[in-house]
Amino acid sequence: MSGRGPTPRIDPDTTKGWFRRLLPVILARRSTFAVVLVTGLAGLALQVSVPMVLKRAVDRSLGELDGAAAFADLERHVILLVVMAVASFGLRFTYRYLLFGTACRIETDLRDAVYQHLTRLSFSFYDRVAAGEVISRANSDIRSIQLLLAFGPLAGLSAVSFLMAFGFMLSIHVPLALVTVSTMPFVFVLGQQLRDRVFPLSWVTQGRMAEVAMVVDENVNGTRVVKSFAAEFDQIALLARAADRLRWSATALIEARARFNPIIEALPRLGMALVLLYGGHLAIDGQVGVGSLLAFSGYVTMIAMPFRMFGFVLIQAQRAAASSMRIYEILDEEPAIVDRPGAREPAPDAPELGRVEFRNVVFGYPSASSVPPAGPGLEAEARPVLDGFDLVIEPGETVAIVGRTGCGKSTVARLLPRFYEVTSGAVLVDGVDVRDRTLDGLRRTVSQVPDESFLFSESLHDNVAFGRPDASRSDVEAAARIARADQFIGELTDGYDEVVGERGYTLSGGQRQRISLARTVLTDPRVLVLDDATSAIDVQTEEAIHRGLVELMADRTTIVIAHRLSTINLADRVVLMEDGRVVADGTHADLLATEPRYAAILTQTDPVGTD
Ligand SMILES: Nc1ncnc2c1ncn2[C@@H]1O[C@H](COP(=O)(O)OP(=O)(O)O)[C@@H](O)[C@H]1O
Ligand SMILES: [Mg+2]
Repeated sequence: MSGRGPTPRIDPDTTKGWFRRLLPVILARRSTFAVVLVTGLAGLALQVSVPMVLKRAVDRSLGELDGAAAFADLERHVILLVVMAVASFGLRFTYRYLLFGTACRIETDLRDAVYQHLTRLSFSFYDRVAAGEVISRANSDIRSIQLLLAFGPLAGLSAVSFLMAFGFMLSIHVPLALVTVSTMPFVFVLGQQLRDRVFPLSWVTQGRMAEVAMVVDENVNGTRVVKSFAAEFDQIALLARAADRLRWSATALIEARARFNPIIEALPRLGMALVLLYGGHLAIDGQVGVGSLLAFSGYVTMIAMPFRMFGFVLIQAQRAAASSMRIYEILDEEPAIVDRPGAREPAPDAPELGRVEFRNVVFGYPSASSVPPAGPGLEAEARPVLDGFDLVIEPGETVAIVGRTGCGKSTVARLLPRFYEVTSGAVLVDGVDVRDRTLDGLRRTVSQVPDESFLFSESLHDNVAFGRPDASRSDVEAAARIARADQFIGELTDGYDEVVGERGYTLSGGQRQRISLARTVLTDPRVLVLDDATSAIDVQTEEAIHRGLVELMADRTTIVIAHRLSTINLADRVVLMEDGRVVADGTHADLLATEPRYAAILTQTDPVGTD
């Protein structure tokens, strides 16, 4: 992003129309648009003057003049035409290149703006909006604005060229000029009918393309499921039906185009016949020169273009309006969680360094039912997941959280780095409310190994060093050793440089968990959360990991969320969760002796793996 300057922003005033909101982004490129306007008008003026030069050449050199004077005059006109052709080429190249280039640059600006905004949005947004929806907005909707920005000015310029041509024709012979443009309304009307047919069809075709893409995508990504249930034939049938629907609408689209386009293209030729019929009579009567006929036949093919483009741009403007709404919906979405004014960085000398406290926390996920982004504040609160959750963890202490699947353990972990905001109560880290910390600082203090590991399609080194991109290879290796990932990495052909497949699916679940663990270990957080971090790892490896972790956990606050006794054994203290609160708190032995619900959960859930 560096070197491109700051990303222009859309107007934040939601009461303005879509185009006015877009203006700041367009005006950021105004100097280029000005050059486009000047070169475009000059190029078109030259192009429109060509038939006039032809007319003069024919009328003068072939008519009025004789002998050597005629030859000289003819040569002068030929040279003039060549110069005009070259200049017009240069000008037309310049304005088209600049215009299309600028439209693409604005497309990039918008994409940068959307992407930057997406990185600022909170988890609650991503819970609500489907990933495919976001991706489609960032791609095809931005493209449709780009098309309008390229073809809108082009249509404007070509409308000006029509006016110039019409003016020249009127200056030669008014009735003949009117006859020449008489077929143009038909070009427009037929074009309109074509678009009335094509527009809905292309809309449908686009939807069906997405449908086919989705089936293919699910079969590629879900190939293991498809094959293990021997569902290939059902899936092939499903794809065939989707492909058939796509073929139907694509064919209908081709048919509409095949029927209308030749007629629209034939109309200027009909116009030429009319020019010859009426203009020929006028010429025979001596009312216009032969040169005029030549000029009019040049214009009759030239002037159809604006009429064809005009309707296209109207449609594209409708599309761009709809697309811009969908893009603004993302850009207008306020990040739910931002730094408070006056939020402070964590201090290295805070008196309660590493202390964690949940104080009577109530929290419910914003309702996930509203799939398109609702306005801020419109989210209905569901039944609270945490309801009066109280827990204090002293600096350096290790606490295990135990409870049934779905009781809210991971939710507790997500509140600590402020991924979500508590409904009431407070979460404190280092004795300070997390809302009074900068998000950056807080998230450097608290780091977790999440319940689902996610790897990027990069090298293992880069995956481990994700939170500390400047880490050296030996740092990465040390972290991998603690997570017991060093051995299997050593056995890979490329070792730490091995690039893992999408989401790390070329590794086993346990291997992914170990990379994810190493990634967190490397960031050396003051507060460490392990959310079922070893659930997919075999017991022997887990024990080895624990030996490494004990050292790591010695001087930092640690929360382990666990199902297995072996993991619970790492903790100084165990808390049992039920109904969104802590119902028992003590050592493992205490709880086992005094709390039947604890014993029940241990026998019930071991080892169920991740939720
Ligand atoms: N992103 C989310 N949006 C809405 N509800 C969620 C979300 N994540 C979890 N939940 C719900 O919150 C409850 C607690 O989930 P979680 O904290 O993941 O449980 P645990 O980790 O103890 O198994 C569950 O009922 C779950 O369905
Ligand atoms: Mg969980």
